[in-house]
This record gives sequence, C-alpha cells and structure tokens, in this order.
Amino acid sequence: MQGEAKPVVVLDFGAQYSKLIARRVREVGVFSLIMPFDTPIDEIKAAQPEGIIFSGGPASVHGNGAPLPDSEVFKLGVPILGICYGTQIFAHLLGGEVQRSDKREYGFAHLRHSDKTGLFDDVDENTQVWMSHGDAISRLPEGFSTIGETENCPHAAIANTESGFYGLQFHPEVVHTPQGTAIIRNFVRKVCGCTHDWNMGSFAESSTQAIKELVGDRQVICGLSGGVDSSVASVLIHNAIGDNLTCVFVNNGLMRDGETELVQKVFRDNFHIDLRYVDAEERFLTALTGISDPEIKRKTIGRLFIEVFEEEAAKLEKVDFLAQGTLYPDVIESVSATGGPSVTIKSHHNVGGLPEKMNLELLEPLKELFKDEVRVLGKELGLPDEIVWRHPFPGPGLGVRCIGAVNKERLDTLRVADSIFIDEIKKAGLYRDIWQALVCLLPVRSVGVQGDERTYEEVCSLRAVTSEDAMTADWFRFPSEVLQRTANRICNEVKHINRVLYDVTSKPPGTIEWE
Ligand code: XMP
Repeated sequence: MQGEAKPVVVLDFGAQYSKLIARRVREVGVFSLIMPFDTPIDEIKAAQPEGIIFSGGPASVHGNGAPLPDSEVFKLGVPILGICYGTQIFAHLLGGEVQRSDKREYGFAHLRHSDKTGLFDDVDENTQVWMSHGDAISRLPEGFSTIGETENCPHAAIANTESGFYGLQFHPEVVHTPQGTAIIRNFVRKVCGCTHDWNMGSFAESSTQAIKELVGDRQVICGLSGGVDSSVASVLIHNAIGDNLTCVFVNNGLMRDGETELVQKVFRDNFHIDLRYVDAEERFLTALTGISDPEIKRKTIGRLFIEVFEEEAAKLEKVDFLAQGTLYPDVIESVSATGGPSVTIKSHHNVGGLPEKMNLELLEPLKELFKDEVRVLGKELGLPDEIVWRHPFPGPGLGVRCIGAVNKERLDTLRVADSIFIDEIKKAGLYRDIWQALVCLLPVRSVGVQGDERTYEEVCSLRAVTSEDAMTADWFRFPSEVLQRTANRICNEVKHINRVLYDVTSKPPGTIEWE
C-alpha cells in the first residue's frame, strides 16, 4: 500500500539495528522495507528498490556460514550503502581484504572526511560517530576510495562513485552519531535519487484507495479493542468503505476503568462506525472461576473471545474480510545472530486462527508501519490523543494482571489501583515517556496498620517500562515523589490494598506482563 513510492531495501544481516535503519530512512521521507540477507534476487528485484542498505551484523565475513547476499545484488544497477559488517561485505566479495580482529572497537570516534561525492553534504568535516565492530577493511576493492577515517580506522568511509557503492564502518542510524540522519538522507535523496515523500498523509490517501479497490462492496469485520492499532486500522478502513465495516467490541470484564465507555463514545458517537458492543463479562468471569495457571487463563480467555466474536460475526449477513491492526515489527522476520535462517516471527494476535476457521481473507492495512508511524497516522485521521498515545494493553487484559484467582472483586480492586497509577503518571507529565505502565495484584496478603486498625489485605506491584518494540524493556526511573504519591493514594483509596511494590526487573530476564 505504499502507492508510487519505491522502497529502499534494508538487507538484514542479523543486526540489532536493522529496524532502526529502516525507520531512519522513513524519517527522511523515503519508504523502506527490511528483507533477510538471503532473500532471492528476484524477490529483491520485484520490490523495485531505488537503493539498498546492507545492515551491520555480529558475524565475521571469515566465519563459517557467514551471512552473504546473492552477488547478483551488485549488478542491479542501484546504489548500495554498507554499514559496518555490510561494508566488509564489499571488501570480501568485490576483491578487497578484511582483517580479522579479536578486539572490538566500541564507542565514540571522530570521523574526518574529505568527501566530494555528496554522501557527507552538510556533515561537519570532523564529526562524532559511533563505532561497534571487530573486523575492519585492510585493503579496498578496486574502484573504491577512502572518503573518511577515524584514529583507529583508516577506512571508516569508502566509496565507489561509479557503481554508487558506499560503505561506513560506523553506525549512522544510532543517536550517538549525531549527524547520521544527514548521511542517510544524502544517501537516499542524493545518491539513490529518491524523490517521493513518504508521510502518513500520503499513506492515508493511497491506502484508503487500495482498501476501496480491494474490498469493493464486500463486508469487513474487525475486533476493536480500543488499543492504538485496532483503532487506527478501523478508522482507516471506515474512511475507505464506510458501513461495509462492522466493528465488534467485546467487553470481557477484564478491561481498564472507563475503557468500554471511551470506545463507544469515540467510535460510535464521533466516527459513526457500526460498532457492536457485546457484554460478555459474566461469561468470561464464569469461565475463569478457579483458574490461576497463567497459560490456562490465557487459553480460556482466547478461546472464549473467538467464540463470542464468531457468534457476533454469524449475525452479519456475509463477511468476507477480517481486519487486524498487525504492525510491521510483527511481520518482519528476524535474522539470527549466527546468520542462520529466520528464527522468530512475533505474533500474538487475539483472533489467531479465526481467518482460516471462518474462511475469511485478512485485511491488514498497517502491516507496513512502525508503532510511532501508526500514532502519526492516527492523528492524521483525527483520533483523539487519548487513543493515539495509549499504552499497549494485552488481549487477556487485567486477567493476566490479577495474579492467581480472577474474580470480580479482585478485578474491581485492580481497576481502581490501575487508574490511580495512570492518573499520577499523567499528572506528572510522564505518560508519553513510558512505553507501558501497569499494576498487578499479587496472590499474597500482608499485614498493615490503617488508622488504628490492623489490616490483612492484598499487595499490588507497579510496573512501568521504557521500550522500542516490547522485545526488550527497561524499568522506568520515576522521580520518587510520583511513586510516593501513587502508593499513598492506593493505600488510602483502594479498599483492599495495604501494600504497594515497584517492580525493577528489565526484560529480559522478566517479561513486561507478569503472566
Ligand atoms: P511480554 O509480557 O511478553 O509482552 O513482555 C510484550 C508486549 O505484548 C503485550 N502482550 C500482549 N498483547 N495479546 C496482545 O495483544 C496478548 O496476549 C499479549 N500478551 C502480552 C504486552 O502487554 C507487552 O506490550
């Protein structure tokens, strides 16, 4: 759905930064796609790239089974930018030499460049860059010259202007290379000559058109949870096909405080979407009675969701498509550090298995976007900040935050504690600095003293993390007053809680959710 925009393809050699490279390219207004390093050349050609970037990676070109691209890639006639390991591929495959090294050069360096090729236009002649490599190029392949050096790296930037091949031993995509974005912009705009402007306004237009053409007058159903992804997908599809979209909101009794009202207000009242509200609270809570094992909980909630959703879909005349808010990070395959084939495809869709079962086609209009792009698109489509900036929330909801037994009383307790925590975070102006904040009710009780009375009540744990994509996360460093206020309020305002903990576990080894 990228419209006329031909991409810059990032070939992924197992770098932790491949997604970041793709995002940087998009930030300068050019559409990008990530492909595994061993993508067959015909597939790369079919994407019609205007340029290619070889990512870095932890391997050595001298290692056994080093990941290498199809050498036909050099004959496509499009510019290539190598980054770190990606640069060493030029030397390895085009007749230069890469020197093995057991020592890594890691950290800041100063690049001095003498570039006349355009790659370093507007970049200071002496500029800070971020290095992270072991091997380095010791002899350039024919046709290449050095255009930049650092103290420890004589060939920190190389170029073969005739072929349009450029190589950087440092990482322009990370924030520690302050002028890195300018280098990426120069590569895609000046070297590759990309002229299109990839932005969420143009994306909204071209994908609305594409959805119209694909769906025609057929029917689409979408599970709307009120999360950013399904919300943006629904509004985008609604703009394209109007009432041929039916959204289903299942109240499973595991929602946050105020959630069900907000979703109905925004989507039914403001956007006039055909929204079917299903109150299934009792069904879910009955099914969860007596279950405290996390996996059985998740499976029970997932199975019941599918059942309820199917029943609702059966009430419609004929449905052809199931819409989902799948994002780009969910569909790109990660390349393993050893350069082997793809190892993980993250997928945790709450309606998994439904399309096959109901014989529906999938409609996933956001599957080329990163989370931050979806937020920009959401704003573009007129969604309120309350939805666009919402923290991620798991499909099984508070069910997996009520550790141990799930019942209405504990859920109500958790809901009040959760809304106090979120309220204090918002009041402190920290909501957008945090990827996700949550409260868990623990399956232990503790003794406390409130007023003059001894209490024996529930314990809750607060968790707030920063993250790029939920694959890794770090705990958020709150100013202590925020934690203090939150803990005070929870102990005072929530009837059954008398103790509050703060979770300082990163991911890994912990996960974001407790269950
Ligand atoms: P974990 O707990 O695995 O979570 O670190 C990573 C991210 O995924 C969210 N999450 C889910 N989202 N359905 C979802 O839509 C699920 O079943 C689910 N489980 C976890 C979690 O909140 C975090 O953002």
